[in-house]
Amino acid sequence: MNVIDQLEERRAQARLGGGERRIESQHAKGKLTARERLELLLDPGSFEEFDMFVKHRAVDFGMDEKHIPGDGVVTGWGTINGRKTFVFAQDFTVFGGSLSETHAKKICKIQTMAMKHGAPIIGLNDSGGARIQEGVASLAGYTDVFQNNIKASGVIPQISVIMGPCAGGAVYSPALTDFTFMVRDSSYMFLTGPDVLKTVTNEIVTAEELGGAKTHTSKSSVADGAFDNDMEALAEIRRLFDFLPLSNRSGVPCRPFYDEHDRVIDSLDTLVPDNPNIPYDMKELILKIADEGDFFEIQQDFAKNIVTGFIRLEGQSIGVVANQPMVLAGCLDSDASRKAARFVRFCDAFDIPLLTLVDVPGFLPGTAQEFGGVIKHGAKLLYAFGEASVPKVTVITRKAYGGAYCVMAPKHLGGDVNYAWPTAQIAVMGAKGAVEILHRKDLGDTDKTAAHIADYEEKFLSPFRAAELGYIDEVIQPRGTRKRICRAFSLLADKAADTPWKKHDNLPL
Ligand code: HXC
Repeated sequence: MNVIDQLEERRAQARLGGGERRIESQHAKGKLTARERLELLLDPGSFEEFDMFVKHRAVDFGMDEKHIPGDGVVTGWGTINGRKTFVFAQDFTVFGGSLSETHAKKICKIQTMAMKHGAPIIGLNDSGGARIQEGVASLAGYTDVFQNNIKASGVIPQISVIMGPCAGGAVYSPALTDFTFMVRDSSYMFLTGPDVLKTVTNEIVTAEELGGAKTHTSKSSVADGAFDNDMEALAEIRRLFDFLPLSNRSGVPCRPFYDEHDRVIDSLDTLVPDNPNIPYDMKELILKIADEGDFFEIQQDFAKNIVTGFIRLEGQSIGVVANQPMVLAGCLDSDASRKAARFVRFCDAFDIPLLTLVDVPGFLPGTAQEFGGVIKHGAKLLYAFGEASVPKVTVITRKAYGGAYCVMAPKHLGGDVNYAWPTAQIAVMGAKGAVEILHRKDLGDTDKTAAHIADYEEKFLSPFRAAELGYIDEVIQPRGTRKRICRAFSLLADKAADTPWKKHDNLPL
């Protein structure tokens, strides 16, 4: 056989990974193989593989006789809708996708290249964890990957997709990346598995209950979203990728759009109900103002009292943070503050402008919140908005009360353009609460109390007191919201931020 044919044969062997039997077993679990996944993730024919022939160097436990080219991870780069990205996909058919010293080196190589070339990295995780036969060498390999995750943070977007087991310290690489997604019913993440729990804490749980997609998207917030199967997950990662910059220096992507920037949306004039205690769906506003109604939501199932995600305005990606009056009346609490703070910091790190939609009656009261550290968690969001130097546009649709007004990107935290709808109520608190404090002695007299409430509502429960003070820039018609915010962001396109030198900040963690 000549060398050209030999190369093809070697390649074919490497592409088979752990062999037909293990590929069939992977398919039987409803999972695709590493290479099948990369084919769906990347543009057809765009994948360039590196290190296809890398082999491990272990000799103990009979490993010197077991060599599979590629060593359990497929790495390289390709494009998504023409934009470059680096990728790695763990191959469960090879030693259970477990991470050896050389497997780690392959991942580190493309992490380094991704940073050097200014392109995101997407990791498809499907692994039994540290390669048991290699002992501390595999732990060292993991830690090298973690160190690179930390270096790359804020330089290039890092996305993790959990598409199989992910246990032990292995979960910390995804946790260090910007976004983690899971596949329902076929992926799980935990530090210590169900067997250990049974022995140590007497708890009996399944792997799915302990670390499945539902747990991590709705309880722990470790994962930012979940999908029904591999195909849906990879298609959605492509969709998310289109919203993201390639790096912290690349600028925000802008793509052709098919929507009028000055589209008038009459139905917004009646979005806010007359009764201030009746909720409405803030997502309706987001979908209606977004280019072509396209919204990629982050952490859809966690802390639903705040909504975070990406839209486009005039083709440009925008990060949206919005109170959701449908859940807990839109109150801020610890979980909502943490969720939104992390999102705001991602957007700021990658120059994605921020749109904040405000309808918040305040922070959620209660011992659970206070004992859980709502002061510190709320401070995270306050800090994140105050620190963010990207263009910031805020629209108050209804309530902006108390401390929550101060947190939700007001002028005083560097809001660049702050609008309010005529339905806005910007005050220290609602009328009833205020009168109960200010006119306690009149509470027995219903007429007097009603008059005090009417007086307070007249004075404070409108946007005009804040407008008189210049704390909002303009009271706008709801129907014109898309036009006004598109114009505001185009004004802010050349915003320059001036921040004092520091090594790094001390975010209230
Ligand atoms: C070496 C491994 C392996 C590992 C699986 N395999 N995990 N080889 N090191 N960590 C191999 C198996 O021997 C098997 O080889 C093949 O992968 C498939 O595994 P199965 O057990 O047959 O598959 P399945 O029944 O689907 O179970 C998957 C699994 C289980 C739940 C992941 O394999 C498992 O529990 N593995 C060990 C998990 C673990 O404890 N890892 C260490 C975590 S601690 P053959 O040849 O039979 O196909 C850790 C520390 C990291 O990771 C610290 C970082 C700081």
